Amino acid sequence: MSEEPIYRARDLVKIYPRSGAQVRAVDGVNLEINAGERLGIVGESGSGKSTLIRMLCALSRPSSGQIFFSGNPITGRKEKQLGNLRSRVQIVFQDPLSSLDPRMRVGKIITEPLRSPWVRGREGVPSDIHSRLEEVLAEVGLSSADAHKYPHQFSGGQRQRIALARALSARPEVLMADEAVSALDVSVRAQILNLIMQVAARDNLTLLFVSHDLAVVRHICQRVIVMRQGKIIEEGAVEQVLSAPRHDYTRELIASTPRLKLGG
Ligand SMILES: Nc1ncnc2c1ncn2[C@@H]1O[C@H](COP(=O)(O)OP(=O)(O)OP(=O)(O)O)[C@@H](O)[C@H]1O
Ligand SMILES: [Mg+2]
Repeated sequence: MSEEPIYRARDLVKIYPRSGAQVRAVDGVNLEINAGERLGIVGESGSGKSTLIRMLCALSRPSSGQIFFSGNPITGRKEKQLGNLRSRVQIVFQDPLSSLDPRMRVGKIITEPLRSPWVRGREGVPSDIHSRLEEVLAEVGLSSADAHKYPHQFSGGQRQRIALARALSARPEVLMADEAVSALDVSVRAQILNLIMQVAARDNLTLLFVSHDLAVVRHICQRVIVMRQGKIIEEGAVEQVLSAPRHDYTRELIASTPRLKLGG
């Protein structure tokens, strides 16, 4: 018997109303993600990538279809029934400034997940909040003194380190990154990517990595899904999809990534 995938999505649909018409932001997605897998999600702007992962981490409800997390349905559940998912899944967004509370000190921001009632007491979660803060600050390359500062006192790259430290503090099993490095300049981007890679490998994280940059996805992920207009139009091992795409749309995405076109 094979192991239960950590995520299973069946006929997932998300419809948004838009001035008279409707947008099918996600339109019939079926997906299985195995524990420890690093999955890239690519596709043009508006193809439904963010909508898909927001549903997977229960920040948004599907219009129809089902999501199973560790074999248990999360669709239709009340917030208080989502503790298992909340304690095991974390997400990092593109813009850390808008996702970090400006009035909270960095130490408080980073340890917030550790204090949540769902997380406390779960197996594998550090019980000493202060020592975990020190540990995770060092892990992302921040200093102890940084814990006393506020988000606006940091650069964009440092803020993304703070967001990552927050996401990692409670030792999640699943890390989702939605264009988490897209706003960073090239050298900072490489540093944050390496950090994500190291932690993912060391802790055997399941990684869902949304990016429009196929070179980055090739570097980070094992498998990739290609989205267009809310549908998965192609999926497979990263190397296979990038070297022998079956769909014209994937070919166009590849052609628009210069580093890949050059064979990099
Ligand atoms: N809250 C919302 N209300 C209405 N429409 C929305 C909402 N969120 C997304 N959409 C629409 O759903 C579709 C998919 O959007 P989504 O943000 O998931 O795309 P994306 O692939 O993440 O794009 P990007 O690469 O630009 O981040 C788009 O047409 C978008 O305009
Ligand atoms: Mg998006």
